[in-house]
Amino acid sequence: MNALLVYESMFGSTEAIARAIAAGLAPHMQTDVVEVADALLAISAETDVLIVGGPTHTFSMSRMQTRNDAVTRGGHAPRDGIGIREWLDQLDVTSATHLRAATFDTRVSSMKRWPGSAAKSAVKVLGRKRVAVVAKPISFYVKDVTGPLASGELARAHHWGDQLGQSLSTTKEKS
Ligand SMILES: Cc1cc2nc3c(=O)[nH]c(=O)nc-3n(C[C@H](O)[C@H](O)[C@H](O)COP(=O)(O)O)c2cc1C
Repeated sequence: MNALLVYESMFGSTEAIARAIAAGLAPHMQTDVVEVADALLAISAETDVLIVGGPTHTFSMSRMQTRNDAVTRGGHAPRDGIGIREWLDQLDVTSATHLRAATFDTRVSSMKRWPGSAAKSAVKVLGRKRVAVVAKPISFYVKDVTGPLASGELARAHHWGDQLGQSLSTTKEKS
């Protein structure tokens, strides 16, 4: 099985979570981790699993304006000005007929009770493209906009990747 993990990150927290998820997933399947600016706009037929993650900005996936905002706070400017919102909008999944997907995001722990998240928004786009989303969207928490990650979040991300890999490889064997 092959997994592709595509992430967006402006201050580094989502990237750290993405790499921890990939480390949990890797014993179960071939796992590639790609920053969104480097991700192809079509999913190949060889890809079985797509995992997408980004920072929650104003209750959803980032937009050009929120990314500009992040840059003024010291975030690194995204190459090509593209985030997971724009990437997912353009994404062609027609070759990957059995694609299964999951999404994650990072957000500030003090806003835990607020409903919107990038991961939930990403699920809606994948659903419109008829991609089977196989896990509940998950959030990982940062202490503040620029980080750091809240304690225990890297371990939680590794565990989530491991569990996801285990369940996906089991269902693949059965089918
Ligand atoms: C413009 C902007 C809007 C944000 N809006 C939210 C929000 O609605 N909810 C939330 O929990 N965090 C919000 N945040 C905090 C981000 O989620 C946080 O910066 C992100 O998790 C850090 O990830 P990164 O280091 O990968 O960029 C916002 C941050 C910025 C810069």
